Amino acid sequence: LIAEVERAAKLLGTKRRICILTGAGISAESGIPTFRDKQTGLWENYGAEDLATPEAFVRDPNLVWSWYQWRRQVVADKKPNPAHDALAQWQYHSHSSGQHITLITQNVDDLHEQAGSTITHLHGHLWRNRCSQCKTPYQKQSRGSYSSADTMDYNEELISCPHCDGYIRPDIVWFGEALPVQAWETAEEAAANCEVFISIGTSSLVYPAAGLAQLAKDNAAKIIEINPNPTPNTIVDINLAEKAGMVMPLLIQKITAL
Ligand code: NAD
Ligand code: APR
Repeated sequence: LIAEVERAAKLLGTKRRICILTGAGISAESGIPTFRDKQTGLWENYGAEDLATPEAFVRDPNLVWSWYQWRRQVVADKKPNPAHDALAQWQYHSHSSGQHITLITQNVDDLHEQAGSTITHLHGHLWRNRCSQCKTPYQKQSRGSYSSADTMDYNEELISCPHCDGYIRPDIVWFGEALPVQAWETAEEAAANCEVFISIGTSSLVYPAAGLAQLAKDNAAKIIEINPNPTPNTIVDINLAEKAGMVMPLLIQKITAL
C-alpha cells in the first residue's frame, strides 16, 4: 500500500486541478453508519428506500420526521476523523501551493465543515429543513441541542409553509428526487475539468453522483479510489484499498511535503 500511496502522492503533487467526491465511508470512522451497512437499532425493519422518499413523507410525515430525529441524534455527537482533517489541511495548504481542490460530498452530515473544509453537498444537509415548494429554509438545526420545536415531533399532518402552499420537510435529497441544481453544476464542472478525480468512501452505486468519475475519465483525468471494499468503478488508475482515516493523513503528509 505504501508504494501505491507514494504513486498517488507523486501524481497529485504535479497536478493543479483536483476534484474529490466523498461518500458515507469517510464518516464511518467517526461512528456514523453507512447506508449499505445494516441499519442499526430501531430502524432495522425500514430501509432508506422506504423512508427517504417524498411519497413516504406525505404518507406518514411523523414516521419520516422520527427517522430524521434518530439520524440527527446519531450524528449530533460525532466528530471529524483524520480523513476529514487531512482533506481540510490539504485544502488549506492548496491556497499557497496553487492547487485547486474542489471537494464534493454525498453525505448529509457536517463533519467536513467541522474539520474546516469548503464543501458542496449533493444530497442536502441533515441539520436543515426547508419548504417543499419555495425552498425557504426553516429552523436551521443547531447540532445536538434538541428542543421540542427542533425535533419536529410533528403530529400526523404536514406543517404548511407560511409563504406558499408547500409544507416543511428535511432539506435532504430523497430517492427519486433531482439534486440541487447549483450543487450538481458545481460537481459536473469540477469533474469535467479536473486532472485527478479522487473517490473516497462511496459505493459508487447511486446516480448521478456515481457518474462523476466517468465524466472526469472522459476528460483524461486520472482516477484514484480510496475504499477498503471493491466498487463498480472499473476506471480506477490507483486503488488505495484501505480505510480513509488511515490512508488520507499518510497521503496528505506526502503531498504537502513535496
Ligand atoms: P435516482 O436514480 O432517482 O436519480 C436521482 C436524480 O438524479 C433523479 O432526479 C435523476 O433524474 C437524476 N439523474 C440521474 N442520472 C443523472 C445524470 N446522469 N445527470 C443528471 N441527473 C441525473 O437516484 P435515487 O437513488 O432514487 O436517489 C435520489 C437522490 O437522493 C440520489 O442522489 C440519492 O443519493 C439521494 N438520496 C439521499 C438520501 C439521504 O438520506 N441523504 C437517501 C436516499 C437517496
Ligand atoms: N474508509 C473508506 N471507505 C469506507 C470506509 C472507510 N473507513 N468504511 C466503509 N467504506 C466504504 C464502503 O466500502 C462502501 O463502499 O464506504 C462505502 C459506503 O457506501 P454507501 O453506504 O453506499 O454510502 P454512499 O456511497 O455514500 O451512498 C450514496 O446513496 O443512500 C443514498 O444519498 C444516499 O448519499 C447516499 C448515496
